[in-house]
Amino acid sequence: MAHLFEPFSLRSVTLRNRIGVSPMCQYWSNDGMPSDWHLVHLGSRAVGGAALVIAEASGVEPRGRITPFCAGIWSDAHAEAWSRVTRFVKEQGAVPAMQIAHAGRKASASRPWEGDRHLKDEEGGWQPIGPSPIAFGGTGNRLWRVPTEMTVAEIAATRELFVAAARRSLAAGFEWLELHYAHGYLAHSFYSPLSNKRTDLYGGSFENRIRFAMETARAVRAVWPEEKPLAARISGTDWVEGGWTVDESVELARRLKSEGVDLIDCSSGFGSAGAHYPIGPGWQVPISERVRREAGVPTATVGMITEAKQADEIIRSGKADIVLLASEFLRDAYWPLHAAKALGIEKGVRMPLPYDYVVNGR
Ligand SMILES: Cc1cc2nc3c(=O)[nH]c(=O)nc-3n(C[C@H](O)[C@H](O)[C@H](O)COP(=O)(O)O)c2cc1C
Repeated sequence: MAHLFEPFSLRSVTLRNRIGVSPMCQYWSNDGMPSDWHLVHLGSRAVGGAALVIAEASGVEPRGRITPFCAGIWSDAHAEAWSRVTRFVKEQGAVPAMQIAHAGRKASASRPWEGDRHLKDEEGGWQPIGPSPIAFGGTGNRLWRVPTEMTVAEIAATRELFVAAARRSLAAGFEWLELHYAHGYLAHSFYSPLSNKRTDLYGGSFENRIRFAMETARAVRAVWPEEKPLAARISGTDWVEGGWTVDESVELARRLKSEGVDLIDCSSGFGSAGAHYPIGPGWQVPISERVRREAGVPTATVGMITEAKQADEIIRSGKADIVLLASEFLRDAYWPLHAAKALGIEKGVRMPLPYDYVVNGR
């Protein structure tokens, strides 16, 4: 039976344990460039024992950023800057992953600590794009911008931006690539019937709504090396009556698997301002459990995972192959070290040598 500190392999990449750093926007980039902050933020979690360190949602083009301060991977200069991060993360025995993203209709937003709202052009914002001209939400002067409906040519061009971002992720030294298909951003806004009202090949039926996600996965897989894992983060449900369902996620997972996607990272929601979330410990684990069992694909789970025993039980009971922590990793960069101690696993985390002989006594 697998447990939290057992290695996990996908294609030719092996994770030293089942603990990953969930992607977290830092809103701390200029022109999308990762900085010293990203090196320390991601690097310290690799030092802390995480097996997989997923960089934040990085825009495949400037207008695909959530905020003006979000990271990007749309030029060779970005790839070069990220390579400093990947080099360090690998030196610590962790696997660096990149999350390539397009924010779609949720782009042009303020930073969370500056209010949860859209930016006007004069505030540094820009015109977002999406499957249909439907705003994310809000009322009055807090109304989100109405996205421009993408043409079929723009859809194809955006898919190619993901392909270029995948190539740059490889050049930057990332060993694992995640497609950001969740949280109301572009791909999710295509597959959710709440934000996609198109009547062409990219809207209407399930087949049509998932078309952008499928075509992008296929095109990315064609340039992302055979030996490296490709994952997709999905919103398993919209948590809205009449929205995207877990049943549909299971089917999407099956189809992504057939295109060479190796792991489904099961998040949920954030595509609709009217959603209600049953937030509590491990609240999204049942989605991962169903996708893993019914689609027969490895999964990651995320969401209020904070305790070692809780995380270990998720792996032991086969509800996911990897646990990802976001908030808890901000409180404790050394969470894996503490989790190993709590589970009584001696030397569960090998520290860098200048720390290891003290921490692990060797
Ligand atoms: C500060 C912050 C930034 C986030 N940025 C991203 C992101 O870039 N991409 C993504 O897929 N999810 C993002 N998320 C969601 C997390 O990866 C995670 O799914 C969510 O926070 C639930 O996990 P938690 O309960 O451990 O925090 C972010 C969450 C936080 C707290």
